[in-house]
Amino acid sequence: MHVSRRPTSGPYAIDLGIDLLNELTPQIIEELAGSAVEELAALDNLEALDTWRVSYLGRRGRLTTVLRGLSALDLEQRREIGSLANQAKQQLEEKFTERTDEIKNAALELSSTRSDFDVTLPGRPPAGGRLHPTTQIVREICAAFVGMGFGVVEGPEVELDRYNFEMLNIPKGHPARDMWNTLWIDYQNEDGEQPMLLRTHTSPMQARVMETRQPPIRVVVPGKCYRYEATDATHEWHFFQVEGLAVDEGITFANLKGTLYEFARRMFGEERQVRFRCDYFPFVEPGVDMSIDCFACDGNGQGCRICRDSGWIEIMGAGMVHPKVLERVGYDPQKYTGFAFGLGAERIAMLKYGIDDIRHFYANDIRFLQQF
Ligand code: PHE
Repeated sequence: MHVSRRPTSGPYAIDLGIDLLNELTPQIIEELAGSAVEELAALDNLEALDTWRVSYLGRRGRLTTVLRGLSALDLEQRREIGSLANQAKQQLEEKFTERTDEIKNAALELSSTRSDFDVTLPGRPPAGGRLHPTTQIVREICAAFVGMGFGVVEGPEVELDRYNFEMLNIPKGHPARDMWNTLWIDYQNEDGEQPMLLRTHTSPMQARVMETRQPPIRVVVPGKCYRYEATDATHEWHFFQVEGLAVDEGITFANLKGTLYEFARRMFGEERQVRFRCDYFPFVEPGVDMSIDCFACDGNGQGCRICRDSGWIEIMGAGMVHPKVLERVGYDPQKYTGFAFGLGAERIAMLKYGIDDIRHFYANDIRFLQQF
């Protein structure tokens, strides 16, 4: 908008409803300031306050307009009215600051009378999530094997009898089934059989992988397993295992030992010793359990809580894949051999971090979980 330097009429005059040149009197300024102050006192929020400021003190506000209009007056008038107008301007500015503070303080007071809002409290840092200790250890275990050329696959937790047992050389009615306290799915097929269960170990994936692939095979299988079991410090009714399987031409027990030895060193330290003893699992022959020398007492045993005086800690079952298992998936056991192993993830974490009760993992106590 064009503003003439000496406005005697036009927008300014219309704004104020007066003719600046002829009607600008001390009284008018007083009235203007008076009504501005009165209006201001009635305002109760910062937005209204700002509108008020713009309308009186803004670039095209009413008082600003008066001040600009002064130049149209003669000298004497200009002095008198000019100083009045400047005083008014200062007064309005002060009142504006005052009222702004009042409204801000009122808001604070209001919030401090609310019992659930303390303005003096520091802000709450957002809660950072983290991975469950089981997830961390499972990933660490898998990473150790991935570094040795293994791939990672996963399988179903609700499994068929066929894979959990039969394909693994554990026929129906065989006493070896008692090694796994099984949670059966309440479902019968037409033959009156109960073919479904919650997998008791990750071994069924041995058969599933071999059924769908040809050698060479090197996989690890992390996953949740279930057992119908009373819980205690070392038993949970659900837990994680990591299965391993390597099948190829010419794989020997030496490959099994070398691979698992390397794993033990990666997980528990360069200086670890390992021990293999005969053990029985229907799907391997020969079968072993593998122990590491106790990292807490360096194998001394005496009075050690971790290894219970023995100097050794069992960490997994393993063995050479049973020829019958190879046959079942259609591999020629004369051509192919392999090794398999299975370890309990929580047990590894318990050993590594000195956790004394497996039930801590799934009790959902934040004080436990926050430590990892
Ligand atoms: N699946 C066995 C268990 O849960 C462990 C195992 C896996 C043993 C592979 C030998 C070979 O007890």
